[in-house]
Amino acid sequence: MRIDVLSAVPFVMESYLKHSILAKAQEKGVVTIKVHDLRDFATDKHRQIDDYPYGGGGGMVLKPEPIGNAIESLSKERTYDEIIYLTPDGEVFNQAIANALSLKKNLLFLAGHYKGVDERVRQLYITKELSIGDYVLTGGELAALVVIDAIVRLIPGAVGDSSAILEDSFQDGLLAPPVYTRPVVYKGLEVPEVLRSGNAKAIQEWRLKMALEKTRKRRPDLFKRYLQR
Ligand code: ADE
Repeated sequence: MRIDVLSAVPFVMESYLKHSILAKAQEKGVVTIKVHDLRDFATDKHRQIDDYPYGGGGGMVLKPEPIGNAIESLSKERTYDEIIYLTPDGEVFNQAIANALSLKKNLLFLAGHYKGVDERVRQLYITKELSIGDYVLTGGELAALVVIDAIVRLIPGAVGDSSAILEDSFQDGLLAPPVYTRPVVYKGLEVPEVLRSGNAKAIQEWRLKMALEKTRKRRPDLFKRYLQR
């Protein structure tokens, strides 16, 4: 997979991309991630990328030309399956969207900043708008990292044990059951006997029961949807 990101502050993403499972995935050749500085696509000598909003009000708006130039220039190199804008008014990101995006070949992310991007950029270029939750961040970079991380770990070969992915919370519509490792007793608390029994069927049943219980208590919305499937 190839991922390109457009950002007004590309350096804030570099550290995470260089020191995480995302870095490992890149080293393994599973994914190539490139962050591009929007300023490199500015049209004036001051490399201006934002301007005051028409109609007044606070904050700055990202200008359309640098973004348009960047998207058009990158699109000459490859065809993007999706051009994704991170914004609090987008569709709320979830595991199903991550699963679908993990099957794509080329993705382009636009991280918003300041007050947002000129609406015409959204009309002309953006194919998908994603929010990572109902709160406002200072910029889309963290949101882009969240979405990219969730996608890349699903690509075969990106993480060590890919069978673990199927056991993630949300993959079957339920929260994940509790997990334990050694020692058997820690501060008086014992690892449930069934997990030490070697009985695969009993273990599977126990895990499903715990996942159902946890989901019912913590996320009645997910539980209801699970029962209706
Ligand atoms: N940019 C600012 N806040 C955001 C959010 N919640 N999701 C995605 N992008 C954002």
